[in-house]
Amino acid sequence: MMKKTILVTGGAGFIGSNFIPYFIASHPEYRIINLDLLTYAGNLDNLKELDGNVNYQFIQGDICNRELLDRIFLDNVIEGVIHFAAESHVDNSISGPGTFIRTNVNGTFTLLDVARLSWKDKPHRFHHISTDEVYGTLGENGLFTETTPYAPNSPYSASKASSDLIVRSYHHTYGMNVVTTNCSNNYGPKQHNEKLIPTIIRKAIMGDEIPVYGDGKNVRDWLYVEDHCRGIDLVFHNGKAGETYNIGGRNEKVNINIVKEICSILDERIPRTDKKLYSEQISFVMDRPGHDRRYAIDATKIENELGWKAKENFESGIRKTVQWYLEKFNQGVV
Ligand SMILES: NC(=O)c1ccc[n+]([C@@H]2O[C@H](COP(=O)([O-])OP(=O)(O)OC[C@H]3O[C@@H](n4cnc5c(N)ncnc54)[C@H](O)[C@@H]3O)[C@@H](O)[C@H]2O)c1
Repeated sequence: MMKKTILVTGGAGFIGSNFIPYFIASHPEYRIINLDLLTYAGNLDNLKELDGNVNYQFIQGDICNRELLDRIFLDNVIEGVIHFAAESHVDNSISGPGTFIRTNVNGTFTLLDVARLSWKDKPHRFHHISTDEVYGTLGENGLFTETTPYAPNSPYSASKASSDLIVRSYHHTYGMNVVTTNCSNNYGPKQHNEKLIPTIIRKAIMGDEIPVYGDGKNVRDWLYVEDHCRGIDLVFHNGKAGETYNIGGRNEKVNINIVKEICSILDERIPRTDKKLYSEQISFVMDRPGHDRRYAIDATKIENELGWKAKENFESGIRKTVQWYLEKFNQGVV
């Protein structure tokens, strides 16, 4: 059987390295090329299970490198792109926004443009992975829908919003077959140490202060990464060209409650030797500038049109996640 080739970008990052093994296992009809620059956020150890898999190929490279992209599209019959590669950490976008504009804006443009020129009239699909942060912040009520106006507040979300609009324009101007998904905060195995949940677990186990921004009352809508992978799969295959789909777990949580939940799982799993509670390590630190107060996604469109629903609830998902990090910690990896 002739395999279809899909180019995945940023597949060595958190979501990509959960997505590729899931996708290869669910779709033996595809061959995946994973293009990743391996910045500090990329980790090939998270894809070890694919070593020797004939349906998988890794290329180290930059989505801003047009020559490399031309070569990849020339050497392979690529029928789809699933574009994860990005700079993704808001704090880093505050201290150094330039890389975010380079990768998220220029990189997305370069990839999209090379794909357009290579595909012309050939069947294709370009799936752009984005974030709910493009919509800005919510008050106490309301949810982000696909028609909520964009109002990004950090250089990260502004760079993602820009890339979403460039992708949109390639559909309207050139008729490209694109879809975009905007998802909420993901959690699960393989996430980089710098992000909230791995940070809480690591600091707790190491006996350090567990830092919580501001008053800890910011609200995020948490999505287990495997649910996100299933959503991407559905939209990639069945989403309408030119459309965007919000993906969210309907799991709104106040940050401080997440920290407390993780602390109590740790109290139960690996109690502190001094019999104190892990929550005693919590320390409130100065708030992040421009910190959005609340994000929450209305996932009605993907649920009704494509039959997607989050399977994991937060209580079970966070237990699995803590378990994964504890195992890695014991192996000295995290
Ligand atoms: N993690 C979340 O909660 C979340 C939520 C919503 C949307 N997203 C979006 O999902 C995508 C993936 O997020 P993630 O959390 O896996 O990110 P991540 O930071 O863990 O991984 C990003 C990957 O992209 C690679 N990369 C960075 N610059 C590159 C370049 N110039 N060329 C090629 N590869 C490059 C990195 O090496 C890394 O492997 C991003 O587009 C992000 O904006 C993430």
